[in-house]
Amino acid sequence: MNVKSVKDLDVKGKRIFLRVDFNVPLDENRIITDDKKIRSSLPTIEYLAEQGAKVIVASHLGRPKGQVSEKYSLAPVAAKLGEILGKEVLFARDCIGDEARRVVDGMKDGDVALLENLRFHPEEEKNDPGFARELASLADVYVNDAFGTAHRAHASTAGVPGLLPAAAGLLMKKEIEYLGKVLTNPVKPFVAIIGGAKISDKIGVIENLLDKVDTFILGGGMANTFLKAQGFDMGKSLVEEDKIELAAETVQKANAKGVKVLLPSDLVVAESVAPDSPHKVVAKDQVPAGWAAVDIGPESARMFADAIKDANTIVWNGPMGVFEMEPFARGTEAVARAVAESDGTSIVGGGESAAAVKKMGVAEKISHISTGGGASLEFLEGKKLPGIRALAK
Ligand code: 3PG
Repeated sequence: MNVKSVKDLDVKGKRIFLRVDFNVPLDENRIITDDKKIRSSLPTIEYLAEQGAKVIVASHLGRPKGQVSEKYSLAPVAAKLGEILGKEVLFARDCIGDEARRVVDGMKDGDVALLENLRFHPEEEKNDPGFARELASLADVYVNDAFGTAHRAHASTAGVPGLLPAAAGLLMKKEIEYLGKVLTNPVKPFVAIIGGAKISDKIGVIENLLDKVDTFILGGGMANTFLKAQGFDMGKSLVEEDKIELAAETVQKANAKGVKVLLPSDLVVAESVAPDSPHKVVAKDQVPAGWAAVDIGPESARMFADAIKDANTIVWNGPMGVFEMEPFARGTEAVARAVAESDGTSIVGGGESAAAVKKMGVAEKISHISTGGGASLEFLEGKKLPGIRALAK
């Protein structure tokens, strides 16, 4: 989809409504524990400020369900943004009304202001036209850098862009370019590594990539359903019984297209899914009754790394096991290392895979880590995301 870039617009002296995705994790003391989403939109914010625009930044945080709640206030994000930018960031305690107008009216060219959580108003998620008009009335131009929220048809993502000259921010552009190339023109060989707990969450991506990839690497809980479909007894592993047939059909379709499907040949199994549970490595046909698969085994990790080594395009979404539990993180770590070591273009999507490459200290070696979990999945499923469609008009 062809969308205009912020660089195509004349923004000098203009008021810019910049929708970002600052939905960052905070701990119980309201301290931001990962500021990647903030840093990812810095190039757009800095570009606009340097051009002499008035940068009115708007975001959601969490799911406050249309209620004002201190827990979901963006105040700590305004402080963090100011710290990273090295300059004052104004903060409006509401995203519309007198308070928002007062802050915007006080802005000088090059100033940056952050509006309070858009989702404190139920109209945001309803894509209410009146609310969209109120937001739009604060600005002259709309820029969307919130790729992580592009799959939501909300007032600030789908409504406001219809009311103002609109363009994509630099992060949004980058996301569309990397993920778009995967779908339209991937450099072969193309390997897609798909993991995570459930096949139902990932089947859309697998189906959409069937005509594009050379190899699928399937791991994580969802691989259990594929192994069960091949007749293996998975003990008490997570298996989606109602998806066994779908798994079998998917492998058949892949085979018919000459696409290789790599499944784990060995597994780490545990008596219970708890970090201190007894666990061991077994072949895929040796899962003991009453034990559950919690990671891929070392032989699978080597096989997967081998396939990743020769790829020119790699997409990775979803961990290989219960990687948040230390003893069951080895498979995901091995895949993270292999993806980082590859010379091909590597794209990591989804919060958990992104967390894994960060934990391994290899994030710098990944060509593109998407800031969108749900959004990158829907993009790879081939869906037209409302936040991007609104920019393409
Ligand atoms: C995300 O964190 O995936 C985005 O910010 C979207 O949040 P949402 O799922 O609450 O819409």
